[in-house]
Amino acid sequence: MTAAPVAASAVAAEASRRRTFAVISHPDAGKSTLTEALALHARVIGNAGAVHGKGGRRGVVSDWMEMEQARGISITSAALQFEYGDNVINLLDTPGHADFSEDTYRVLAAVDCAVMLLDAAKGLEPQTLKLFDVCRHRGIPVLTFVNKWDRPGLDALAICDQLEERIGLRPTPLTWPVGESGHFRGLLDRRSGEMAVFERAPGGVRISAERRLTPDEAAETYDGEWHTALEEVQLLDHVDEASFRAGRTTPLLFGAAVNNIGVGHLLQTLVELAPPPSARPDASGELRDVDEPFSGLVFKVQAGMDKAHRDRVAFVRVCSGRFERGAVVTHAATGRPFATKYAQALFGRDRDTVEIAYPGDIIGLVNASALRPGDTLHAREAPVEFAGMPSFAPEHFAVCRARDTGRSKQFRRGIQQLEHEGVVQVLRSELRGDAAPILAAVGPLQFDVSAHRLEHEFGSAVRLDRLPYSLARRTRADDRATLDAEHDVEVVERGDGALLALFSDRWRLASVQRRHPELMLEPLVAGA
Ligand code: G4P
Repeated sequence: MTAAPVAASAVAAEASRRRTFAVISHPDAGKSTLTEALALHARVIGNAGAVHGKGGRRGVVSDWMEMEQARGISITSAALQFEYGDNVINLLDTPGHADFSEDTYRVLAAVDCAVMLLDAAKGLEPQTLKLFDVCRHRGIPVLTFVNKWDRPGLDALAICDQLEERIGLRPTPLTWPVGESGHFRGLLDRRSGEMAVFERAPGGVRISAERRLTPDEAAETYDGEWHTALEEVQLLDHVDEASFRAGRTTPLLFGAAVNNIGVGHLLQTLVELAPPPSARPDASGELRDVDEPFSGLVFKVQAGMDKAHRDRVAFVRVCSGRFERGAVVTHAATGRPFATKYAQALFGRDRDTVEIAYPGDIIGLVNASALRPGDTLHAREAPVEFAGMPSFAPEHFAVCRARDTGRSKQFRRGIQQLEHEGVVQVLRSELRGDAAPILAAVGPLQFDVSAHRLEHEFGSAVRLDRLPYSLARRTRADDRATLDAEHDVEVVERGDGALLALFSDRWRLASVQRRHPELMLEPLVAGA
């Protein structure tokens, strides 16, 4: 892991052919289907259905934990890597369950681009909006794919209006549907001016055959619908790479993941427009170039993926240099050496040992109990520390107590470990004491995961009692007495030392603010 000039340029070349992204969407918009379709398109998976385990198909990406299996949902995040032409695509999975968790947000710290997936019938949905906010906050450019065009849905221009009016993102279509949703005839390819028509493949079992029609042929066959498409798309701007990367515009594509329609266009667009891994600022703002010696960011820690071994896997995004399995790197937070003997590429249950990885790639380090989200690993000779993982604004709160008070030692150890791993935020106050901390979560699913782990991993079954708060604001010690005097308001301390005031809702907050304008009550921005 030295930074010899030749190796450096090889690393830069490897980095430049990589695209690392995540799909952000509301549950049921078709993220799993799209993931399959993308992988299928790149022909790494022989038959669709291998990526997610719904409907009795073999579950590869999900189903790690018993709980997941029982509920048929995906709690964990995995990375899927495949080659596409000369490019290497790293697709990071974001948990798709209706309950958000901080993991979903953290994944976005490890990507260079996001694909916002919309259901043609629903347009922008609440969870997509939340995730989009994180992308915007982090300056992650967003491509938009409107899915399910094979079914009746909104008007294409209405979707464009939503993007512009609700999130201020100007859509720049690359393709445009010919025929309304539900009466889909094909896609106008804006760059070539041709029309792509598809022979549908039911169930997405194979790639739909794509046929190209010249504009004249399209006009002859689809007359009115073709001309409508031409007129509509003229109302919208063309793709502009600079404004896309600056987060002002979003290249827009249409399709139907279930039939593999438009998926090839999406892959091609990712390769052509999505930014490759680039220099990353460290905690002090100085840039670490991709061809500098190895560095990586831990963006997620997952326990219990392999029941037989009770292991804990830290997911690391390579930020610079060439990662070689077996190298001893430094854990920036402690300055301790960290041996990377057990490095794996993780694709659901299937694990391959990773020998070498480049910027943009994701590796899983097994039994990395010292690592936590936001930690940096770096080559010994070239220290760096990236900014830690932000704490996200919790919206759910519950008091957690050991069911058996005789097991308070196990309980405390477990709570500490969950806090350390960032599974859930832990809030404490003198009033409640160590035996009854408050767990705070972005999504209630984090409570279930915590309770499950406390019982099965740490031997302390717990009782969780939900609290009637939904809002936290950062405050300061000087304001404590005033807040303590308010009923239904509680002041607690988070693990990182931040003092938080908890409110039932924004009306309660507003009333306290009105009466005490001098109080510091700062919002905790999601993704800040
Ligand atoms: P998610 O991961 O975002 O939660 O969504 P998922 O891919 O599981 O898709 C949700 C549902 O939407 C699935 O149907 C899926 O088949 C369907 N779907 C996805 N893409 C398209 C599309 O392009 N067109 C149409 N018409 N449907 C699409 P399901 O009935 O919930 O499950 P299943 O029958 O596929 O098992």
